[in-house]
Amino acid sequence: MDFSAKNSDVTKTKTQCAVLFVFNTTLSDSASTVDDAQGGLLSKLITSKNLESSPGSTLWITPGANSPSEHILLVQLGKPTATRSSTITPQTWGKACTALTAALTRRPIKDAAVFLDKITIENANDSAKILSKMLAEKAEVGSYRYATTKKEVKAPTLKKLSVISSSTAPSKKGLALGEALGKGINTARELGNLPGNICTPSYLANLAKEMGAKNTKLTTKILGEKQMEKLGMGSFLSVSKGSDEEGKLIIMEYNNGAKGNKPHVLVGKGITFDTGGISLKPGPAMDEMKFDMCGAASVFGTMAALTAMNAPVNVVAIVAAAENMPSGGASKPGDVVTTMAGLTVEILNTDAEGRLVLCDALTYAERYKPKSVVDIATLTGACVIALGAHASGLFSNNDKLANALLASGENTQDRAWRMPIWDEYKKSLDSNFADMANIGGREAGSITAACFLSRFTEKYPWAHLDIAGTAWFSGANKGASGRPVGLLVDYLLNN
Ligand code: BES
Ligand code: MN
Ligand code: ZN
Repeated sequence: MDFSAKNSDVTKTKTQCAVLFVFNTTLSDSASTVDDAQGGLLSKLITSKNLESSPGSTLWITPGANSPSEHILLVQLGKPTATRSSTITPQTWGKACTALTAALTRRPIKDAAVFLDKITIENANDSAKILSKMLAEKAEVGSYRYATTKKEVKAPTLKKLSVISSSTAPSKKGLALGEALGKGINTARELGNLPGNICTPSYLANLAKEMGAKNTKLTTKILGEKQMEKLGMGSFLSVSKGSDEEGKLIIMEYNNGAKGNKPHVLVGKGITFDTGGISLKPGPAMDEMKFDMCGAASVFGTMAALTAMNAPVNVVAIVAAAENMPSGGASKPGDVVTTMAGLTVEILNTDAEGRLVLCDALTYAERYKPKSVVDIATLTGACVIALGAHASGLFSNNDKLANALLASGENTQDRAWRMPIWDEYKKSLDSNFADMANIGGREAGSITAACFLSRFTEKYPWAHLDIAGTAWFSGANKGASGRPVGLLVDYLLNN
């Protein structure tokens, strides 16, 4: 998408579609100017209740011949917050941007101009930047269509979006940031959507190499199974050995912050397909286990966004990529393996494989003496039962880190909710034959999974995001959501 920002008058702005706003029944300045020029057409349509009052409602209007725009899209922002007549919350603006891009991409519109007028965001001093950023993000996200393995895809025609604002410099900055973020979110969605026979551990490794080759500040390292054996990653290898696809530990080091500043580390679960292994999953909806690499996808998406923004940060990404298959070489229930940390694990259920690949990746992360480590994983079905599709599960050994992540979730409407990892829960991982078992009982499944990981993360501030419920949509809109790229990028830019 081609984004631009300029300061111009609505009566003189030639565009295929003018996007104008209304607060409940009060027209924005530009909308009001157009209303006068069109003989009160807009206000008539509003008083006759053609536009609903909930934020994000839209109304297409065809103006008369004297209009500089072929179409008008009127977007409802609802009642402004009490303080100022055109002040809204970021949530309202997010809804409006999603709705307006959905409307624009449903029609054969090629270019549109969005008139920001005096809209401000509650408690913000850089509204033009925030508004433009979110608009560009939602425009990118709203025009993504999965097409890689499909012949007939109706791609949206929208190619040009201009922001009309009196503060063009901050708007331009916002647009660039939002575009980078939106593309990062789409990177995560595309990787998630790719089928398991294309998006294999090697595919992800090659993608990392390509990203490294394109950016001098990004260094890529790939460890194959031989190298992982040397490091003693017996737990990771117990998963990948059941598959013909070689497991890969993919490392991307992005160094664009102050020299010597310790990095933040992201660790992504990259099970490119999860059959459950010998503890085979039931058939229905098993196809959705191609999404079991969405944690890894979010790590790739975050790195794509940060590099596109040229963000001044030091971040290390570690992706634990493997396929969980049943085969003659696969792990069996009761097998005991030794982790890189030296702890032994009794594999009571081969379907609890995420924690087995993550624990060795988390031990590997120690070498960076990280400021923080955040792992992102579609780890448990239990988390879907606990929190549903709206919040990612957050677990942490550090309150400051947990609160920073919760705040980033709120900022970006990519929310998380904290859950406990108290010692009382840890007992359920006791094993008669190893230092710990890889599953607890039936209760609190997402917590005992996090407790398992916590045994490997005592040397640094750590948080775990269980995105099993938030990483993809099921049903008619089946597809990856790109979460929690928004949360992660916000966290890394602000901490
Ligand atoms: N990838 C799954 C978790 C999952 C299941 C995410 C369904 C989203 C939807 C994970 O590897 C898994 O199979 N977990 C098991 C753990 C159990 C064996 C303790 C689960 O949740 O059933
Ligand atoms: Mn599993
Ligand atoms: Zn899994």
